[in-house]
Amino acid sequence: MCGIVGYVGKRECLPIILEGLKRLEYRGYDSAGVAVAQSGKLFFQKKAGKVSELEAALVLNRLPASTIGMGHSRWATHGEPNDTNAHPHSDCSGTIAVIHNGIIENFQTLKTKLQKDGHVFKSATDTEVLSHLIEEIMKNGNDLFTAVRLALKEVQGAYGLVVMSSKEPEKFVVAKLGSPLILGIGDGENMVASDAAAIIAHTRQVVYLNDGEVAEVSADAFKTTTLDQVEVTKEIKKIDFDLSQIERAGFDHFMLKEIHEQPETIRNAMRGRLQVEQGGVRLGGLEHVQAKLVNARRIIIIGCGTSWHAGLVGEYMLEQIAKIPTEVEYASEFRYRNPVVTSEDVVLLMSQSGETADTLAALKEAKAKGATVLGVVNVVGSTIARESMGGVYVHAGPEIGVASTKAFTSQLTVLALITLMIARAKGMSETDGKILAKELDALPDKVRKVLGNADQIQRLADEFKGSNNFLYLGRGANFPVALEGALKLKEISYIHAEGYPAAEMKHGPIALIDKNMPVVFVVPKDAIYEKVLSNVQEVRARKGRIIAIANEDDHEIEKLAEFVIRVPRTYGFFGPILNVVPLQLLSYYMAIARGTNVDQPRNLAKSVTVE
Ligand code: AGP
Ligand code: GLU
Repeated sequence: MCGIVGYVGKRECLPIILEGLKRLEYRGYDSAGVAVAQSGKLFFQKKAGKVSELEAALVLNRLPASTIGMGHSRWATHGEPNDTNAHPHSDCSGTIAVIHNGIIENFQTLKTKLQKDGHVFKSATDTEVLSHLIEEIMKNGNDLFTAVRLALKEVQGAYGLVVMSSKEPEKFVVAKLGSPLILGIGDGENMVASDAAAIIAHTRQVVYLNDGEVAEVSADAFKTTTLDQVEVTKEIKKIDFDLSQIERAGFDHFMLKEIHEQPETIRNAMRGRLQVEQGGVRLGGLEHVQAKLVNARRIIIIGCGTSWHAGLVGEYMLEQIAKIPTEVEYASEFRYRNPVVTSEDVVLLMSQSGETADTLAALKEAKAKGATVLGVVNVVGSTIARESMGGVYVHAGPEIGVASTKAFTSQLTVLALITLMIARAKGMSETDGKILAKELDALPDKVRKVLGNADQIQRLADEFKGSNNFLYLGRGANFPVALEGALKLKEISYIHAEGYPAAEMKHGPIALIDKNMPVVFVVPKDAIYEKVLSNVQEVRARKGRIIAIANEDDHEIEKLAEFVIRVPRTYGFFGPILNVVPLQLLSYYMAIARGTNVDQPRNLAKSVTVE
């Protein structure tokens, strides 16, 4: 997820590394660190916060001048963001340094084994297990390259990895699986990085490692093999795009990039947690409160904005599947309402940033009243995550666009996992558990399919760019999707939009409908499909312009709607994870068509830390 940069050559490495880390700053991260090699020893500096804080620490505590070194900017997944958990991570003897992007899923098993063999761990990260594992393998006389290769054969998860050893101080060993890793090829100097942005100031010649490849990189050479020692001939490619483009991975805006990341981020939310074959879920951060959750008298979900919408979908899942009475509250209302909350209640705080002032105040209120308070948060180590009694990180990675997209679908995924976990604990059969687990497992590919409609949605946006009002309608778990669609449109294109339960339309909003009114229906083929279809008829009878989000096999809807955007079928309560994606794209392309600032819409802030 975050940044890696390493340099080996003739020049002093530290300024190059720090400059590279700064170029990755746009991603947002929580801590940073560097390691350099000099006179057969490794030297480290690590600091929570921004690169400028790392730089300040380096002024106070200078590292020896060196021509080989590496740096990392961390976006924590395991262990809070502090100096100790920052990378690089070392082994017991201080001869190995590791920087890593990604997640080592089986780190706990490996760590327990290594601890039994006498290894002492300093950090709470998953990454540190790699340094000790490599140290252990090198004890048998293996060189660094072999040790990294063999270590990775024992590892499950995702990594972009750079390793240095004071015993072979003239080289890096790097590897990739799931997270990006590139080599920058220079003249008598080479670089390694997670992104081209970190090295483009020095070279435009790059080698992209593929998954399952490991490479040894020195100042004037590199060699690549697979983990099974099969040699790979790599092609040197030329980067011919500019920096700002790379930062957004070729997308015009962060929001669009984040929308397109969703197949991967939804997968990350489930990784290591969903057990498809057993039809179950393991959530480490909830294990100690599982009994509380399963026996909760009531679950209260609290959040603001998009996180509140995620909570509304969660209410459907938790009541219908896990059979626990659930309420959803705006944090800003809950905090001043003097709500009736008891120790039998479980409060779930939903927050992307983990810093929203209203949500934090609600957390404190619920805690004071004796509830079990749990966080469903994206930013690791954020205040809400720290102050909760337990919780689940959604692992969507840094979300930079002010309009929340990928965090929402990850929140829904985590709510589905929590629901399945409770349902199984309350007696749902393994067979039924498996059916739901398989549906969840299939979601990333289905989201990818929905993203394939982007061009159609862009044409739709061009058609409607002159409209100044929109209605969004849906029922059941798709009512919150209608709310979210309307919020996205308001936020970035400044078009007035309202979301309603489809059947509520006849109680008032129907008065707005005429031939100029676009009405977006979320109408999947679920238990209440026919009912929503009647609402579609009502809009049609009044000449409203109907846009429908409908399943691929729905041939009724095309007779009624002016535009149909197709989404694959899934289990009803998971539908929102697919149905919201076209609405995110619609708001994005509407904003583009109207020329607004997509990533930084007027008047809004990414993290609302005031009341
Ligand atoms: C979403 O697009 C918004 N910008 C906003 O509603 C946001 O969801 C809300 O402020 C809550 O933020 P949080 O998830 O970081 O707590
Ligand atoms: N999982 C690692 C950690 O939490 C790496 C995180 C990252 O990609 O920055 O330290």
